[in-house]
Amino acid sequence: MKCRRCKEPAVIELRRHNAAFCSPCFLHHCREQVRRCIDEFKMIEPGSRVLVAVSGGKDSLGLWDLLIDLGYDVDGLYLGLGIGSYSDASGDMTRRFAATRGGHLVEVDLPADFGFDVPTAAQVTRRVPCSACGLSKRHLFNSAAVDGGYDVVATGHNLDDEAAVLFGNVLRWNTDYLGRQAPVLPGRDGFVRKVKPLVRLGEREMAAYCVLRGIDYIVEECPNAVGNKHLGYKEALNAIEEQSPGSKAAFYFEFLDKASHLFTPAADAERADLTPCPSCGSPTTGDVCAFCRLVDRVRVGR
Ligand code: AMP
Ligand code: FES
Ligand code: ZN
Repeated sequence: MKCRRCKEPAVIELRRHNAAFCSPCFLHHCREQVRRCIDEFKMIEPGSRVLVAVSGGKDSLGLWDLLIDLGYDVDGLYLGLGIGSYSDASGDMTRRFAATRGGHLVEVDLPADFGFDVPTAAQVTRRVPCSACGLSKRHLFNSAAVDGGYDVVATGHNLDDEAAVLFGNVLRWNTDYLGRQAPVLPGRDGFVRKVKPLVRLGEREMAAYCVLRGIDYIVEECPNAVGNKHLGYKEALNAIEEQSPGSKAAFYFEFLDKASHLFTPAADAERADLTPCPSCGSPTTGDVCAFCRLVDRVRVGR
């Protein structure tokens, strides 16, 4: 197998692109995919300050690395969720990367800053941990960005993640979620713009990217995610991709091209009237925002 660009021996084959690359050309390919994605979806304007949310996994650490190399003014944000040894390991991995690359890391810690962790919130609310976790992440990504004066929040969602979410939403025709599947969610009224610059790269590409760049990342999934629906959708899509390379990308990008606009009115309507939360100032449709209600519930519940 020879590299498509330089004809040297290849180290990775990408069937979806009908191509193989040597190590330097593969790294170039990854940078190009991210650069094109940012351009195409107008994700980051020149001079913007970017905050990349990093979990210590391959996607978000790889993304931070790529954004630094592409010349963006980018800092990292790590959220301590208090999920036992998993959180300890992800925090260590993130701090180590920041130190090696000389990146500035903003840290928010649920237990230290808000007095509870994800497992406790799950117990008190009697819901799955991912529910309190997702709510906390959405809230704290935005508030950390607003507090730090950042223009954009970037997350490490890749093509496999986005195709799996789309698959789940289409299976149940969750029209309001389908309206929010775009790789860019514009900022407004106290919400900072959110972008997913890795949607042109798959899981396997990100793992290879980190290995070839010598980036140490946490391999384990969150213990609460094991066996969830999302992972099942990924497996189903992988089986289809194996039979027919390119299906995953076609499924996601053709949706964006041909159908996503049909669902945006539903999503827009839901974002209609926002007022500042009286407790924390974050934009909310209700009175007190969902995150502050969660903080209160956990305090009272214990
Ligand atoms: P997940 O929701 O775990 O699939 O993660 C999706 C994206 O959210 C990751 O690629 C990161 O950008 C971000 N993220 C997840 N966990 C954290 C965390 N603990 N701190 C900061 N960012 C995170
Ligand atoms: Fe949120 Fe596992 S519960 S990452
Ligand atoms: Zn609030």
